[in-house]
Amino acid sequence: MENDPRLTPLVRSLPASVPFVGPEAHERARGRPFRARLGANESLFGPSPKAIAAIEAAAPEAWKYGDSESHDLRAALARHHGCAPENILVGEGIDGLLGLTVRLFIGPGDVAVTSTGAYPTFNYHVAGFGGRIEAVPYTADHEDPERLMARARETGAKLVYLTNPDNPMGTWHDAGTIRDAVHAVPDGALLLLDEAYIELAPDSACPALPVDDPRVLRFRTFSKAHGLAGARVGYVIGEAGVISAFHRIRNHFGMSRISQAAALAALQDQEWLGHIRSEVAAARDRIAAIATQNGLTPIPSATNFVAIDCGSDGAFARKVLDGLMARGIFVRMPFVAPQDRCIRISAGRPADLDAFAEELPGALADARKV
Ligand SMILES: Cc1ncc(COP(=O)(O)O)c(C=O)c1O
Repeated sequence: MENDPRLTPLVRSLPASVPFVGPEAHERARGRPFRARLGANESLFGPSPKAIAAIEAAAPEAWKYGDSESHDLRAALARHHGCAPENILVGEGIDGLLGLTVRLFIGPGDVAVTSTGAYPTFNYHVAGFGGRIEAVPYTADHEDPERLMARARETGAKLVYLTNPDNPMGTWHDAGTIRDAVHAVPDGALLLLDEAYIELAPDSACPALPVDDPRVLRFRTFSKAHGLAGARVGYVIGEAGVISAFHRIRNHFGMSRISQAAALAALQDQEWLGHIRSEVAAARDRIAAIATQNGLTPIPSATNFVAIDCGSDGAFARKVLDGLMARGIFVRMPFVAPQDRCIRISAGRPADLDAFAEELPGALADARKV
């Protein structure tokens, strides 16, 4: 297939890479299920019971396509964010929306700037449309907005990708730093601000940005705090003109009505969101305590996961990770140095974290032996 002449030259040039191997694929390979699923930053606490009821209520209507305008969900999101429905585009998770955004702005040879080792799905889309990635290093385990904007200026980039809070390190910037980054977006460029975890961060991390600023698009998701990763619902907030461009290329019937109903009910259950925030905060504390008890260093996190510094290099962290996976604990780790000295543990319920606490000492001992 690699050299199939029917493929476009661009596709023939791409590696057959998968940004993330899913836990189910790992389970099939190992021939048994994991004991704890702590690698994909899903919400193990589940969605709001009201969202589950909405899914059940929508199920008999599954013969109908979803509303191609996601009207009710967009209206509710607009009320929630104090903007107009025209400022919101609903789509198939941030991952899908990033793909559409890259398709809108990146043609062969165009430059997009990101951070080395940041959330890789953006790079995957840029490669898929023939763009060129320019990456700048993290500074002290944080994505570095000043460096990102400087590189964008030097290279004439069209897109700059910044995640706040960050995945895989869980670190974050305050609202003032993000506002400064928006003001520093070079002419001709657009900032993609990925806020997948923002509902789990301190309020001080979330800037009030004018919705009619054409320099920035904000990406949100129902996959993390709202616990609906499998429903595939995300949205972009931005200036109405930029948002309207998506209608030229988007998959108009890509949203399932079951997912639309689930997201609407989840948004309306802010009490559940508050409950999740405290569950996640408690889980972060517990993961940090388990790390410390094992002589490792947890990195402060504003997300639903904690990166744990294993105190050595990437090869050592990989051994710890392999030991955990072999013991039935699904976790992941950053891809590149120096962040790859860490393993990354998703917030879990007490029983999930008990399993992690039980298995970490053995995984560490084995990693130190070899
Ligand atoms: C930074 C970041 N952006 C986007 C996503 C994916 O979001 P979605 O499920 O909405 O596609 C993730 C998931 O891990 C993430 O960490």
